[in-house]
Amino acid sequence: MKKIIVVGASSGIGKAIAEAEWKKGSKVLLMARREREMNQIISLWNKAESPRAFALAYDVTDFKSADKVFTKALKTLGGLDEIYYASGVMPEVGKIEYNTTKDHAMMNVNVLGAISILNLAASHFTNQKHGKIIGISSIAGERGRKGNPVYNTSKAALNTYLEALRNRLSEVGVQVTTIKPGFIRTEMVSGLVLPEKGLLKVISAEDAADRIIKIVESGKDEAFVPGIWALVGFIIRNIPNFIFKKMSI
Ligand SMILES: NC(=O)c1ccc[n+]([C@@H]2O[C@H](COP(=O)([O-])OP(=O)(O)OC[C@H]3O[C@@H](n4cnc5c(N)ncnc54)[C@H](OP(=O)(O)O)[C@@H]3O)[C@@H](O)[C@H]2O)c1
Repeated sequence: MKKIIVVGASSGIGKAIAEAEWKKGSKVLLMARREREMNQIISLWNKAESPRAFALAYDVTDFKSADKVFTKALKTLGGLDEIYYASGVMPEVGKIEYNTTKDHAMMNVNVLGAISILNLAASHFTNQKHGKIIGISSIAGERGRKGNPVYNTSKAALNTYLEALRNRLSEVGVQVTTIKPGFIRTEMVSGLVLPEKGLLKVISAEDAADRIIKIVESGKDEAFVPGIWALVGFIIRNIPNFIFKKMSI
């Protein structure tokens, strides 16, 4: 039975990944701050059979606890095959707002929290010579845009960290996959008006989770979700600076 940790599993994409993996027969450990929500989720799943789903309260910005929490997670699952990092925050940032508190929160959750727990997973997987690390990044990491400078920065940093992990860990047979979602209907984007039709239409967290799991199973290094966002990424990366500077995106 596959043993999986999903960090950031109390809602949205992380919750949907945990549920899809649980349905496939994996043993899953949900981690996030909202313990009550996670316990509600797993109590529904564990009703039918002997427990295969567990919850562990963890604030990823409590960096000093990462070691203790990771050890407890390994003990709860009885080992580890895959870890997903889906925790993320994206506070609304005004056009001329420079709010260091918000910016530090994004770097702490989106980057430093990932490093704190994924370093431990990397070390564990190196010793056991197998394992998969999956980071949920974003299309937002492709370029520094006007809208939310530090959200973009945090995802670009996460991409580079995951790429470096991949290059190290491929030598010991460990897979590292970077997932770059476009528009996914979750709490994070509940205040935004997103396209319901067309090529770039928003998809559900469940649909995203199914696509993400297929990508991970295919062994790809990185992928956009849905795939059409690869084209958007390509275009965005190739717009010359002097034009990009003038664009309102
Ligand atoms: N939705 C989109 O359109 C979209 C697009 C591109 C990328 N993404 C990325 O996808 C990932 C998942 O986001 P989502 O859309 O599924 O939003 P979401 O429903 O808001 O999920 C965010 C998750 O992060 C967890 N989290 C936040 N702060 C945390 C902390 N301090 N410690 C531990 N966990 C924390 C939350 O749990 P608690 O609050 O319980 O701690 C929650 O489980 C994020 O990295 C996001 O940047 C989303």
